[in-house]
Amino acid sequence: MKTKNNNIVLIGFMGVGKGTTARALSKALKTMNLDCDDLLESSQNMKIKAIFDEFGEEHFRRLEKDLAKFLATNVKNAIISTGGGFAKVKNLNKIGTVIYLKASFDAIMQRLKNSKNSEKKLAKRPLLSDLKKAEALHLEREKLYEKKADYIVEVEGKTPKQIVKEIRILLKV
Ligand code: S3P
Repeated sequence: MKTKNNNIVLIGFMGVGKGTTARALSKALKTMNLDCDDLLESSQNMKIKAIFDEFGEEHFRRLEKDLAKFLATNVKNAIISTGGGFAKVKNLNKIGTVIYLKASFDAIMQRLKNSKNSEKKLAKRPLLSDLKKAEALHLEREKLYEKKADYIVEVEGKTPKQIVKEIRILLKV
């Protein structure tokens, strides 16, 4: 199947494995992976956490909007991994075919705690600093992700290899 702009856009909550899946998918499909947070960090020459700390979340969301316009206009043939709040941008679906990687809040927190450098991974995500708030955000975001998704892939308990296989079957790529 031909995907929009030949791009696949992965959305989902922080820590669900968008980056890991994107890297495995781009390797399998022999195409490039662009990570939104990495692009913002390099274009601002600042870490995400520093952008939040110095300029606040609103400023970060504006940077995401500008990046979305750039991607929709300029990028083709890529796997695009997004930050957890990127799905809010208006023109998300103009960028490419959108896949929501879905897992429960508990499974996501477990995945993060069991991962290598877990403390670093938690510390670099300002919106995970308060677990109660993060759980409420997960509940709220689920609706957003479901609304924006062209496809939903349940990832809980699955390996990156299994997830890649499912995506390839779904999109016929
Ligand atoms: C955010 C998710 C983060 C990063 C920023 C805000 C969010 O990306 O963009 O900390 O609003 O959910 P990951 O989903 O890669 O952690």
